[in-house]
Amino acid sequence: MGKVIGGLTTSHIPAVGNAMANKLEQDPYWKRFFDGYKPVISWLEKEKPDVVIVVYNDHGLNFFLDTVPTFAIGCADSYANDDEGWGIPTTASFKGDAQLSWHLSESLIEQGFDMTMCQEMKVDHGCVVPMNLMFRHLPEWPCKIIPLAVNTVQHPMPSAKRCYDLGKALRVAIESYPEDTKVAIFGTGGMSHQLQGERAGIIDVEFDLECMHNIVNDPDKMTALTNTNIMERGGTEGIEVIMWMVMRGAIAPNVNLLHKHYHAPISNTGAGVLLMTDATD
Ligand code: DHB
Ligand code: FE
Repeated sequence: MGKVIGGLTTSHIPAVGNAMANKLEQDPYWKRFFDGYKPVISWLEKEKPDVVIVVYNDHGLNFFLDTVPTFAIGCADSYANDDEGWGIPTTASFKGDAQLSWHLSESLIEQGFDMTMCQEMKVDHGCVVPMNLMFRHLPEWPCKIIPLAVNTVQHPMPSAKRCYDLGKALRVAIESYPEDTKVAIFGTGGMSHQLQGERAGIIDVEFDLECMHNIVNDPDKMTALTNTNIMERGGTEGIEVIMWMVMRGAIAPNVNLLHKHYHAPISNTGAGVLLMTDATD
């Protein structure tokens, strides 16, 4: 059977991609940020997921503003990265699991989530930076991926509640897959940041820490926030934190928190790392 073995949250910012490409992990600016990933990398090495569902937002590489699906799922056996203009080296393609993707799509749609199915999908820094953060020390990608794109770019966007409920449905979908498959979920992006307009550069550490606490201990408190509430405190791009709620929904009502780390600022953002498993496992 399919099993959700755990979930984690991670930054996906392009500057991290550049830092890894230039081997700046020990640089004083970057060291504490990268050190925050060590327990997560060890956990992945030990637990060896077969498939990682990467919940991310496309920033204009695969979908442009003329066509933005609210929730899109990759249904391919391979996903290519491409040059987005940030100067990050393009990565090797990722192996997909189209059979599992179609199963998830069927189940999610049955459960009321009208996913857009993508038989071709290019993945951008939102997906690639997290994969590099976790696996760049290995000679090749050690697992398959299923990219799950959430619109956090063009209004109107889905709510934190809708994302949380999608995560719950995703768990049901994974657990009804008949083949033994260990699945980990990455919720990427965030935390507070705004890249444009009058408030460009804002970071709200207190809000970020509150979100991290509530995502772990009281997800219903997060789902009580409207997108306007989130953007007022966390900035317009801080809305990316709704993607963490998809991961959170897929774990369980009660979780074991295995690791928590926060660092700000890094580039223009607050960066949070959470690693959690189902408390009943
Ligand atoms: C930055 C953050 C993002 O989430 C992103 O997609 C691009 C850039 C930044 O902080 O620079
Ligand atoms: Fe982003």
